[in-house]
Amino acid sequence: AVMVGRRVRRRRRWTRVVAVLEEFEESCATHVGRLRQVVDAMAVEMHAGLASEGGSKLKMLLTFVDTLPNGSEKGTYYALDLGGTNFRVLQVQLGGDSSDRSAILRHDVVRQAIPPHLMTSTSEDLFDFIASSLKEFVEKEEGFSELSAVKRMELGFTFSFPVKQMSVLSGILIKWTKGFAIEDMVGRDVSECLQQAMSKIGLNMRVAALVNDSVGTLALGHYQDEDTVAAVIIGTGTNACYLERADAIIKCQGLLTTSGCMVVNMEWGNFWSSHLPRTSYDVDLDANSPNPNDQGFEKMVSGMYLGEIVRRVILRMSEESDSFGPVASRLSEPFTLRTPLMAAMHGDESPELREVARILKDDLEIPDVPLKVRKLIVKVCDVVTRRAARLAAAGIVGILKKIGRDGSGGITSGRTKGQQKFRRTVVVVEGGLYTNYSMFREYLDEAVTEILGDEISPHVILKHTEDGSGIGAALLAAAYSSPNVDTVQ
Ligand code: GLC
Repeated sequence: AVMVGRRVRRRRRWTRVVAVLEEFEESCATHVGRLRQVVDAMAVEMHAGLASEGGSKLKMLLTFVDTLPNGSEKGTYYALDLGGTNFRVLQVQLGGDSSDRSAILRHDVVRQAIPPHLMTSTSEDLFDFIASSLKEFVEKEEGFSELSAVKRMELGFTFSFPVKQMSVLSGILIKWTKGFAIEDMVGRDVSECLQQAMSKIGLNMRVAALVNDSVGTLALGHYQDEDTVAAVIIGTGTNACYLERADAIIKCQGLLTTSGCMVVNMEWGNFWSSHLPRTSYDVDLDANSPNPNDQGFEKMVSGMYLGEIVRRVILRMSEESDSFGPVASRLSEPFTLRTPLMAAMHGDESPELREVARILKDDLEIPDVPLKVRKLIVKVCDVVTRRAARLAAAGIVGILKKIGRDGSGGITSGRTKGQQKFRRTVVVVEGGLYTNYSMFREYLDEAVTEILGDEISPHVILKHTEDGSGIGAALLAAAYSSPNVDTVQ
């Protein structure tokens, strides 16, 4: 009787674990009807953010980038890319031959993790560190150190946080995102901080363009394919920018641009709508984050947070059942399950889910989890990733809707005998989630097609770029330091 009682109890507990999953899955639902509501909300908020300063949670920041590189750029330029888990330094050589833009690009890169203590230290510490890594790289590239003192070099600086630009080469930090918290930096001119750190160590370099990573990505995308209208980042954080007509930027009446257009940095990580499928885990994650009530969309979509949502759900499950063993201490520590590990578990195709077992044991200190539990964990990863990818897809279609490229009217460039002709529309996507997490990419691509429908979706191309944020910044440095610029098409 005792044995039977125990079995019944265990079964009941297991039923509760399954109930946790089912409830979670239900509250993450992203059927196409709901995605369309998100699309509409995104387009509406874009309008509101362009109409007035503070008109929406979407900041819709001006970038002062009104000309995109066209291939005529020539010379050697540097780029510094700061804003995620790593920072990168690049040297890009441009041949100035607009008919062959792929062959002229040669670049060298260093990639380095940002020492975590610098993310919460002082601006001086951070910029001193960056400037000296930059100097080291330049000296290696240029061959000898004296050279850097004589020749002034031009730099594109990718700084991937919300910045209020004063011009294409300067701007002040509005707030930090993605776990950075250096208080004395907020409100300061980002280029000036770097410029000071560079002159302190005798590095003769000038910031010629200060850009967001999404803007750099758009610049490279457009350089390679002129039908590119928007760029999306889905990495540690998430964001998008796109080409807007200057006269649609109502909050800046009489904005003069050479092309009649300007790239707008949406800062969509801060997007919010009641149509977003929010769960109690999202609410708790937000409340315990360094920036509560901020970056709501980013917290459901980007790499910094997906693993953390999964961890919270597994923790909840483990509290319901002893199939997980005693509640492991690692599992109760925030941010122990990083998104790459989550992707590895999700991608485990072995019938025994061996990789899942290994990660649970090595990284979360939960050994010997039965197969049925491992299966459940994979399912949690799937639910979280699918929701994230589908929401990002809705965001992308929201942009297309705003600029009349979603097929809902105004998209035509001409009619051929009762048939609408849709313009080829390219969106470039960059960032670790899209690049390294195949399930994420599949869900995103699939959802864009699902929302747009069979008629329109063949005309919308999602392209993946690499190092675009950095190379693009170098291209923009070139475009804005040479007199030989073309206007945006
Ligand atoms: C965060 C930043 C944004 C950046 C994005 C992707 O959302 O605020 O500026 O583009 O992360 O790196």
